[in-house]
Amino acid sequence: MTHNNWKHRWIQAGAPHHLLSITDLNSEAARVVLQLAHAMKRATREGRELFRFERPTVVAMIFEKPSLRTRVTFEVGLHQMGAHGTYLTQADIQMGKREAVMDIARNLGRWVQGIVARVYYHSVLGELAQFAGVPVINALSDHEHPCQALADLMTIQERKGEDAQTLAWVGDGNNVCHSFILLGTLLGHTVRVATPEGYEPDEAVVAQAQRNAAQSGGQLFLTHSPQEAVSNADVVYTDVWVSMGFETEREIRMRHFQPFQVNRALLALAKPDAIVLHCLPARRGEEITNEVLDGEQSAVWDQAENRLHTQKALLALMLSASGCE
Ligand code: CP
Ligand code: NVA
Repeated sequence: MTHNNWKHRWIQAGAPHHLLSITDLNSEAARVVLQLAHAMKRATREGRELFRFERPTVVAMIFEKPSLRTRVTFEVGLHQMGAHGTYLTQADIQMGKREAVMDIARNLGRWVQGIVARVYYHSVLGELAQFAGVPVINALSDHEHPCQALADLMTIQERKGEDAQTLAWVGDGNNVCHSFILLGTLLGHTVRVATPEGYEPDEAVVAQAQRNAAQSGGQLFLTHSPQEAVSNADVVYTDVWVSMGFETEREIRMRHFQPFQVNRALLALAKPDAIVLHCLPARRGEEITNEVLDGEQSAVWDQAENRLHTQKALLALMLSASGCE
């Protein structure tokens, strides 16, 4: 059965039990997820599913923050594979308030086969993983958004092939940027990051991305000039200037980030066939203009679709390796 081949490759690649960070994946594990995601996308478009859970499988989906893409793609993906996601908001379970995180983890671990969690504090994911006994997948934290990066790299492969590309990040050096530079360098790309001063990616993430690049043949450059980052790039990627949880900084951020808008003038510095990525939601007219988001070079809707296929691949691999099939 093809499914066993994928599972075998996943186990050979180390089969991480949890995905809290891109650093949980080595380059082979990342490649297995992406290749399976491409195969699943083709199959789903032909009206078939490559993988279905045989045993009753339920995944708890904890969301401390709002979501459109992440919630819907996990729910739809689980449904397509014959499993079920149960959505739990902070209003329902009040993690750390009504009940200790470790106790919630221990309860959920008795009922469900996996946990997907979107949290304010990355450390909460570690606690869930420590006590749940079932795989935990990071659905966005203050530190990383690994599911997003997998969909980003899948989109780049679809549009540009698997050869190394020059990827420009323009904007805030936080969660989405962290996962993107870790995965981009793991897979051998040159990643250029332009942030305002004071919004650079975390030093430990930069150091890890530099180690990845040294191993993969990729490169990592940090700059404060969006023009320098974008010059001759194959991919231009941006994210909101005010992430969830940072709303009180809105006014000052608008000032600091203004020169970092992805608009037609900036995009003109990239290769003529460069693609534009945005994890979404976008604040039209702030970090990206309408003409770029809706323009011919925009790949954002494919990127959003690919959240579905990459997360299905992850769920199939992680949950089957942990005993659910
Ligand atoms: N990109 C992303 O994670 O979108 P949501 O916040 O809507 O899930
Ligand atoms: N950096 C953004 C990403 C949203 C998907 C945030 O954390 O709000």
